[in-house]
Amino acid sequence: MSKPVILTGIRANNDLHIGNYFGAMLPMIDMAKRRSDEYDIHMFIPDLHSFTAPIDHSQLQASIMNNARVYVAAGLPLDNPSIHLYRQSYVPAHSELTVLLNNFVGMGEMERMTQYKDKSARLSNDRVSVGLFDYPVLMASDILLYNAKYIPVGDDQTQHLEITRDIAERMNGRFGELFTVPEPVAKQHEFFGKEQGLRIKDLADPSKKMSKSDETGKGVIFLSDSPDEARKKIMSATTDDKASVNYDKENQPGISNIIDILALLRGVTPAEVAAEYQGMDRYGDFKKIVADEMAQFLTDFQSRLASLNDAAILTKLEESERAMNEVANTTLRRVQKAIGLRS
Ligand code: ADP
Ligand code: TRP
Repeated sequence: MSKPVILTGIRANNDLHIGNYFGAMLPMIDMAKRRSDEYDIHMFIPDLHSFTAPIDHSQLQASIMNNARVYVAAGLPLDNPSIHLYRQSYVPAHSELTVLLNNFVGMGEMERMTQYKDKSARLSNDRVSVGLFDYPVLMASDILLYNAKYIPVGDDQTQHLEITRDIAERMNGRFGELFTVPEPVAKQHEFFGKEQGLRIKDLADPSKKMSKSDETGKGVIFLSDSPDEARKKIMSATTDDKASVNYDKENQPGISNIIDILALLRGVTPAEVAAEYQGMDRYGDFKKIVADEMAQFLTDFQSRLASLNDAAILTKLEESERAMNEVANTTLRRVQKAIGLRS
C-alpha cells in the first residue's frame, strides 16, 4: 500500500525575504521532515505556472534551478526517499490532464475565481492570457494526478483547492472512482495547525507586513541582501519613544516585530526573547544584538547556497521525475479510459 500524499507547489525567486523564509519555507520543510514517515511528500516546482504574467524567458531556467537550490539551502533533505522534488513540466501528464479536465469545467465557475479577477483587473485586456484563466485547472491536475489528500497552501489558494475538490467529485460521480478528493479546507487547517500564522512586519512601517511588493525595500530584508545591508535595515527600524523593550504588539509594534525576528533566528518563542531583554532601555543596544544575529544568519545561508552541489540536486530532480511519471501516467490512463480515449 502506498502512503497518503501531501503535495504542494513551491515557488521561489530571487526576491525572497525573511518573511517568506520563516513564514512559509521553513514551516513547509519542517512539516515535510516530520511527516515523511507516514506520508509521501511531493514538493514540486510549478514551472508551467510561470507564464501567467509576462516574464523574461531567458531567465526561466536559472530561476527554476534557483527555486530548488533555495529550498535545499533552507534544509530540504535530498536523501529522504519519501520526499519528492520535481519540476512540473518534466511530467507531461500535468499538461495532458489539464487539456482533458478543461472540458468538464464551466466558464462560469472559473470566472468566479477571485485570484483571476484580481490579477486580470491589473493587466490590460490584451495581456490577460488564457493561461492565466486556466491556472486553477492546471493546479487541479497537479493535485489529482497524485491522489493527494493534504495540500498546504496560503489562504489565497483556498478557492483553487475548492474547485479541485469540485472537479474531482464531478468526475468521480460521472465516471466512477477516478480521483482521490482532497480533504476540505477546514480539515486541511486542522491537519496543519495554525503554525503558519506568524507575519513578520515591515521594518520601516510595522503596521504592514513585510512584502516584496514594497517599492522602497527599506523595511524588507531579502535573503540576497548583504549582511551589512541587513544590519543597517535593522539598526534603522522604526520603534517608539517608550525606551523599554517589551513584547506588546498593540502599543510597541516595531520593537515587538524585532523580538519576533530574534525569536525566529534563535528558534525560540517571542516570550523567551522578551523575558531575556525585558525593559532594556537602549533600543540601539537591543537592535545591535538582532542585527548581528541576522548578519550571521545571512552569512551562513548565503554560504550554504553557494556551496550546494548542483549535480546532487539535479540527480534528485531526475529521480523524482522518473517516479512521478509512473504515478501520474497511471492516473492519466485511468482518466483516458474512463472518458473513452483508450480501451
Ligand atoms: P509577498 O507578500 O512578499 O509577495 P507572497 O505572497 O509571495 O509574499 O508569499 C509567499 C509565502 O510567504 C506565503 O506562504 C506567505 O504566507 C508567506 N509570507 C509572505 N510574507 C510574509 C511575512 N511578512 N511574514 C510571514 N510569512 C510571509
Ligand atoms: N498556485 C500555487 C501558488 O500560487 C502554486 C501551486 C501550483 C500549487 N500548483 C499547485 C500549490 C498545486 C499546491 C498544489 O502558491
